[in-house]
Amino acid sequence: MIEFDKVFSRYGTYSTQWDYIQDRFGEEGLLPFSISDTDFSCPPEILRDLQKRIEHGVFGYTRWNHDDFKSAIRKWYEERFSTVVEKDWIVYSPSVLYTISKLMDSLTDIGDYVVVQTPAYDAFFKMIEDKGRALSDNKLVQEDGKYVIDFPDLERKLAEPKAKVFLLCSPHNPTGRVWRREELERIIGLCRKHKVFLISDEIHMDVVRKPFVHLPILEVAKDLEHVCICTSASKTFNTPGLCGSYALIPNQCVKEEFLLTLKNRDGLSSASALGMIATMTAYNECGQWVDELNQYISENMRTVGNFLAEHIPAASFHLPESTYLAWIDMKKLPYSSEELQDALVHHGKVAIMPGETYGENGKGFLRMNVGCPRSKVVEGLARLKKAVEGLERDFG
Ligand SMILES: Cc1ncc(COP(=O)(O)O)c(C=O)c1O
Repeated sequence: MIEFDKVFSRYGTYSTQWDYIQDRFGEEGLLPFSISDTDFSCPPEILRDLQKRIEHGVFGYTRWNHDDFKSAIRKWYEERFSTVVEKDWIVYSPSVLYTISKLMDSLTDIGDYVVVQTPAYDAFFKMIEDKGRALSDNKLVQEDGKYVIDFPDLERKLAEPKAKVFLLCSPHNPTGRVWRREELERIIGLCRKHKVFLISDEIHMDVVRKPFVHLPILEVAKDLEHVCICTSASKTFNTPGLCGSYALIPNQCVKEEFLLTLKNRDGLSSASALGMIATMTAYNECGQWVDELNQYISENMRTVGNFLAEHIPAASFHLPESTYLAWIDMKKLPYSSEELQDALVHHGKVAIMPGETYGENGKGFLRMNVGCPRSKVVEGLARLKKAVEGLERDFG
């Protein structure tokens, strides 16, 4: 536990979250709870293997297509999700978004619709728009604070002749929903009925709160031809700066097309040696570390809940089922989202993502990244309170 309490200064590491906070929030020196990486160090086993590799000193072109990489992934899926992964489903990719981008290119044409459930990870919006595809928005609905799927609307969206891909986020960023088997079965059934390819982004699969259990889409689907998983160890083990992710694509035509793009069209001739080693060691040796991480994050979430209940009772917060992203409903406070952001930056000196980043139905929420030592969470909450007090003073 102590391990996660340790505070590292990330300044001077070219950290997007810390060194470049001004890019998103317009001010320097804010305490950041923004993009989703964590402030935790990698498990010692990963550090050991990275150090060993760095000491070797030669960093030539590096292959991912071998048994060591694939066996580590298979082992992880068997141990963590009781799911059998076939070796020939596995492909390396530099990042999850790269995989999604290339799959979108091959599975859709310009003008086609990509169905996304909103609120959604903002990079999805940018990618779909900049590729000339159209976002078809299946809005998640809140029932007693819990997000549920509007299935009749989803079916309407999937039935559109131009709908070619459903980009599912499982577990879901930013709401933290862990989709149940019945929900996934209905999604799979609808995609199949309307011949829509299902891409499941499962990058948040490891950070899940008990008693919820993440179900890989390939564990639930019976027909594997129109389904794939894009994921990575990078979110869980905080290694996105090392690069490297992978996808599980049972459809061999789709997989071969992806590999052709990776190797020939885009000329990516090497895996990231360090990213690949981190993934293998993580999956071979670090299950226990993830269990402890989950306990720590859950306690951080409870800290958020208790603090808000005591100090900002108008804020509504439900313990998310997964992720290290606290999704806080501020709509009952008598301030606009713009006023709240201004107060967070200028009174609180804190950077917390405004909910509208994730779509119009995110407006009025805050997304606070609590993948960090508890002392930082406590400090961030105190700054949030200061911002609200500043607003109370300003508006009387
Ligand atoms: C749902 C989701 N997908 C993908 C990513 C980014 O993954 P990568 O850096 O591997 O492209 C993130 C990062 O926040 C995410 O939340």
